[in-house]
Parts: sequence; structure tokens; C-alpha cells
Amino acid sequence: MEVIIQSSREVSSKLAARNIANLIRRKPDAVLGLATGSTPLPLYAELIRLHREEGLDFGKVTTFNLDEYLGLAPSHPCSYNHFMWTHLFGHINVNPSRVFVPSGLVEGTAIEKYCERYEEEMRRAGGIDLQVLGVGGDGHIGFNEPGSSLASRTRIKTLTARTRADNAQYFVNADAVPHHVITMGVGTILEAREVNLLAFGEGKAAAVAAAVEGPVTASVPASILQMHPRTKVFADEAAATKLVRTEYYHWVYDNKPDWQRI
Ligand code: F6R
Repeated sequence: MEVIIQSSREVSSKLAARNIANLIRRKPDAVLGLATGSTPLPLYAELIRLHREEGLDFGKVTTFNLDEYLGLAPSHPCSYNHFMWTHLFGHINVNPSRVFVPSGLVEGTAIEKYCERYEEEMRRAGGIDLQVLGVGGDGHIGFNEPGSSLASRTRIKTLTARTRADNAQYFVNADAVPHHVITMGVGTILEAREVNLLAFGEGKAAAVAAAVEGPVTASVPASILQMHPRTKVFADEAAATKLVRTEYYHWVYDNKPDWQRI
């Protein structure tokens, strides 16, 4: 794991955006795994700026989103599909036929088959080159809550009370937050060739410390990223306050060989 600590979420997000832009320039038909929530907002704003001002071309890029609330139509203002079109897809030249967000409208026994097809689409696209992740205060990635199998695949999950409360701010009231979601599994996420986990603010400090320096455990799903060969953690100083090896992470970053710089 490479831990990159920057002064603010804006500086950190610009660096993460440059990392993605480098990939797209190297591989125009790159496959991106994308997250929603408050964390990637400055990243998406910077990708939009890079598209508008520096011609970053998303024309051949394919995207797969991590998760979606079950019960919400794609047009619902709180759906993750709506979120992605509002905050990213609507402002770049992505081809809508290459955009994949799990459907919130599948029901009952059809869900399992649907999730298998979602994974099949990922394989058909050649697998995910770079997966963007946020992290829950409890260490979840995607909506793989603590206790999720570290080998899990895309499937239905039940949100914890804490995650529902954290996400209530986006809904008319706390009861409106769905209980169920479709999420890529931890095993699915681990197959991405590169993972970029973003974490900002002191509310993420405990989760970051547990994920980066704690034991690998299903109780902190993000900790499995210690087993992933190419994970970068982009954190601001607030999210890094509970890390022990901070000095070393800065040392590594400051002494990188030029060819390894973002
Ligand atoms: C969102 C997702 C979640 C969020 C996490 C953090 O697609 O998969 O894991 O990344 O809940 O949410 P924020 O960024 O709102 O703190």
C-alpha cells in the first residue's frame, strides 16, 4: 500500500485525478471502477476540469459503479445513477453505452442472476484497470459492511444502521434511506489492477488507521487492500491523524524516483 498524505482534500483529489488522467492518456479505452458519496466529489470536479481545459478524452473509457440502492429508479435524485450523471458523466464525453451502474430496480430472485451479469460485463470489458474507493467510518468499501466475506462477489447487502444514518443527509428523512443495496463484492474489488482509496476528514481517521496498519480482517473490509499489490491511499492530514507510520509515508513520497511520480 502506498499512503499519500496531502494538506487538503482538494490537493489530494487533484493528485488522484492526475493519476487517473495518466492512465487514460496511456490507455484511452481504460476501464474505471467508480464510487459515489461525498469523498470523490472534488476528484470528479477535477476530472471535469481536465476534460474541459486539457482535453482529457473519456470517449473510449468504460465505467462500472460500485453500488446502488435497491428500490430507487435511476432517475431518483438519491440514486447513485443520478449522482454519477449529476457529478461526472453529464459533464464529460463518456459514451453512455459504456457506463454501467447497478440497477436499483431488480427484485427478489432476479437479483442473483443480475449480479452475475454485472460481473460478466466487467469481464467482457477486460476487467477494471483502476478502482476508485471511498471508505465508510466503519471501514466498509463499496457497501461491504463489516463482516462481509473478503471473497464476496457482486450481490445484495443490508446496510448497517450506522451507514443508513451517515447517508440520511442525502434523503428527505432517515427512514427514506433504503435498507438494501447491490454492491460489488470485496473479491470483485480486489480484481481491479489498481485501487485508489480516497479518505478525507477526521471522521475517517480511525477507519484509515485500521485499514492501513491494523490486522487484515473482515471486521474492517478495507483492510483487505493490504493484500492488493497496487493500492494507493490518498488521504488528507485529518484522515491521517491516527496513522503511526506517517513520517515514513511522507519519506517514501518525497524520495520517489522520478519515473514513479504521478
Ligand atoms: C459509495 C460507496 C461507499 C462510500 C463510503 C464513504 O459508492 O461505495 O463505500 O465510499 O460510504 O462515503 P462518503 O464518501 O460519503 O463518506
